[in-house]
Amino acid sequence: MSLDACKRLAARSAADLVEPGMIVGLGTGSTAAFMVERLGERVAEGLDIKAIPTSNAIEALARSLNIPLTDFATHPVLDMAIDGADEVERGSLHLIKGLGGALLREKIVARAAKRFVVMVDFTKPVDRLGARTPVPVEVVPFGWQCTSVVLGQLGAKLISPRRGPNGDLAVTDNGNLILDCDFGPIKDVQELATRLDGAVGVVEHGLFPCMATDVVVATDREIEQWTP
Ligand code: 5RP
Repeated sequence: MSLDACKRLAARSAADLVEPGMIVGLGTGSTAAFMVERLGERVAEGLDIKAIPTSNAIEALARSLNIPLTDFATHPVLDMAIDGADEVERGSLHLIKGLGGALLREKIVARAAKRFVVMVDFTKPVDRLGARTPVPVEVVPFGWQCTSVVLGQLGAKLISPRRGPNGDLAVTDNGNLILDCDFGPIKDVQELATRLDGAVGVVEHGLFPCMATDVVVATDREIEQWTP
């Protein structure tokens, strides 16, 4: 089975956890797009839900599929958020997210949800976060070079300002920049997350410790559902 077929399988399985009447957070990325497509099919069949998207791209997709949208003023608490991830640590279910650049809104939506369902293909589970994936850190543009120095002091060995296709610094939906920080294998995810939370200039980071309530993993043979 191709990688995309695995992503689609995990995504459809996660989308089928949504029940009528739910307020649902829509994640960002290629797996999330498959999930939104499946929700669009279910809405067309009569499923009554409202959704809050985590990026402009996913909002456009949801609108094109006639998925009704809402906002936090009307619904400050979501029943479920569904999103992809870049790495899932086996056992703890800590996550790295944000290679798609939407980590800030993704974390706000996940925190507001009673249940945070993460769907991944077989390439995403790891024994320890950080060995192969940098931690994306969203920073304010003002003084980002100084923030980069602080991130180095917190242990980032290599810091790459994210760039767009034209070579310019990439700007998030929130008008910020992303520094991809290679910390190597992370021994204590919670501790690093707390340090990053406290760094001046950091808006948010892609470590999501102890947040997933369910992880749907698609291999080429089966679907597994993990809980903490
Ligand atoms: C976006 C994310 C995505 O969930 C993550 O990058 C996974 O993407 P994909 O499903 O395309 O592999 O965190 O900010």
